[in-house]
Amino acid sequence: MTDAEIREYLTGKNDGELFATADRVRREVFNTDVYLRGIIEFSNHCKQDCLYCGLRRNNRSIVRYRLCMDEILECAGDIARSGISTIVLQTGEDPFYSDAAIADIISAIKSRIDIAITLSLGEREKGSYKLWRDAGADRYLIRLESFNEKSYSQARPGTNRQERLNCLETLRDLDYEVGSGIMIGLPGDSIDDVITAIRKLTVMHLHMIGMGPFVAHNQTPFAGESNGNVDMVLRAYALMRILNPMANIPSTSAMESARPGGRMRGLQVGANVIMPSFTPKRVKELYNIYPGKNVQQDIDEDGLQSVLTMIEKAGYNVSWARGDSPLKANEKCKM
Ligand code: 5AD
Ligand code: SF4
Repeated sequence: MTDAEIREYLTGKNDGELFATADRVRREVFNTDVYLRGIIEFSNHCKQDCLYCGLRRNNRSIVRYRLCMDEILECAGDIARSGISTIVLQTGEDPFYSDAAIADIISAIKSRIDIAITLSLGEREKGSYKLWRDAGADRYLIRLESFNEKSYSQARPGTNRQERLNCLETLRDLDYEVGSGIMIGLPGDSIDDVITAIRKLTVMHLHMIGMGPFVAHNQTPFAGESNGNVDMVLRAYALMRILNPMANIPSTSAMESARPGGRMRGLQVGANVIMPSFTPKRVKELYNIYPGKNVQQDIDEDGLQSVLTMIEKAGYNVSWARGDSPLKANEKCKM
């Protein structure tokens, strides 16, 4: 596909053909399966100050929380009892949890439950990533957020894009399944940056690709900016599916925040993963990265039911499998 064709698709020149092709490719690899990942957001503290994010350290309006080992294990137990086979452990960048503390959490879960563990804890040293891999972590998510150097450095003060890329490569060297992605519609980004992202993420041969619209948060310097265009994100899902047939692609909760029904639509245009939050009710709404995050109560009185119903309504089947990356299995065969 040429850049000109990608641009045409992104601007909606042929949604019918794009979405149908993406769904056909998705079905060839994953059939109608939708994998579930139970996410535990165990701390909303963050030492970074990203201009777009509600967890930024300079947001004084947010009540902060941390979960202890017992609480995390309880959530992990809830995820396993519901039948889900992957746990995602996510936080802001919170140095309160030492490398050893995180390793203890991973080993404690792994010794009790046979389940895949995905980490999403931000940038750390190679030694930390290695310790956690040795403790049993299987996968790591670290989005590159934007491929526009200027908006990246403006939106993430004090951080360096190359260092984030290095983290991704280190994680790959350590044999994690790696996931990355972007926000679409970050202030300062243009459609050219989305095209660049689609190209560059594709050549990275990622196991997982996570994308969502930027959603303006009123407790951040980006309050009042326009949200990302949900239709463009749907087109990006479809393009990424076509270009990366074997990648696990979640339909993210930001889709739902930006447009009710957006997450369900994502499944119909190439996404094959849903990540319901199992963060305890009493703190879940405090994990307020963007408005609306965790407000739609995935795990309500009916348990997982609302998510399962949504998947079926979209026309797909819930898979309880671990949903390891088929790309990773292929890499192993070639060795
Ligand atoms: N809108 C949408 N997504 C956001 N994220 C952070 N802030 C926002 C926002 N305002 C995304 C980032 C981060 C992920 C956990 O949430 O891409 O990697
Ligand atoms: Fe922290 Fe991540 Fe939010 Fe940046 S995007 S402030 S690193 S939680």
